[in-house]
Amino acid sequence: MLNCDKVRADLRTSIFGRTLYCFQVIDSTNAYLLTLARDGAPEGTVVQADFQTAGHGRQKRRWLSAPGQNLLFSILLKPELEIDYSKKIMLATAIILANTIENYLQAHQLDPVQISFKWPNDLLVNGRKLSGILAESILRDKKIEAMVLGIGINLNEPVEKMPPEIRDIATSLRSITGQPIDREEFLCMFMQEFEKNYERFERNFYDHVVDEWKERCDQFGQKVTIRTPFGEEIGIIKDVNESGYLVYEDQKGVLKALIAGEITKSNHVTDV
Ligand code: BTN
Repeated sequence: MLNCDKVRADLRTSIFGRTLYCFQVIDSTNAYLLTLARDGAPEGTVVQADFQTAGHGRQKRRWLSAPGQNLLFSILLKPELEIDYSKKIMLATAIILANTIENYLQAHQLDPVQISFKWPNDLLVNGRKLSGILAESILRDKKIEAMVLGIGINLNEPVEKMPPEIRDIATSLRSITGQPIDREEFLCMFMQEFEKNYERFERNFYDHVVDEWKERCDQFGQKVTIRTPFGEEIGIIKDVNESGYLVYEDQKGVLKALIAGEITKSNHVTDV
């Protein structure tokens, strides 16, 4: 089990992770933290679990992770910002997570890895998913009253031991580097990086977030299938706009902005 006392002792933050709940098994760290948020838990509360029985990602997909190998945790934010900032907070979190991975590798004299972003919230290495972020919010009067950011990052689970449904599309930091990853240290590093940047979030950080995020995204110009609850279509990814929405060109040449949906590379033969 994750050594929670070690995290508490080593953590150099004043808000994030100061209230920390660690579980061996839970249904979902996001679901639990949403309940705590409704009961008035303070900003920065973190819930971590070694295993989730109902871990979920976007589009109600399951998040699969072997017990005690990876990091599964959720953070509570109370940003007092309009709903429109939700996407940007998620993009900012992806940047912070990528920076944490790079800092960790550097601190351990491990070779750097090329991390790329897939809209809206995936971190990939060599086209394989290393981490996903799920934001769930409690809204009031068009403002974000509370936001739970759930992060799943594959640290130590060997790719060959992953369930068949994700084995060919996922990766882990251990499989990439060949070295075991210290989960406690990684969690502390992430929380410190998060807190350092969160101050900037409150000011004008958001003006730069999208541009910074785009630097790591290699999806532009790609032909993709876009799936939303309203249907499916083929398009070409053109941009991510200043609100963090995906901009794509549909088959009629119309530019559309997508707030939420599922993007997969398209093998469709018709030119767009
Ligand atoms: C995605 O890729 O769609 C997002 C995956 C987010 C998974 C994490 S694991 C910790 C937290 N608890 C959950 O139930 N989901 C998130």
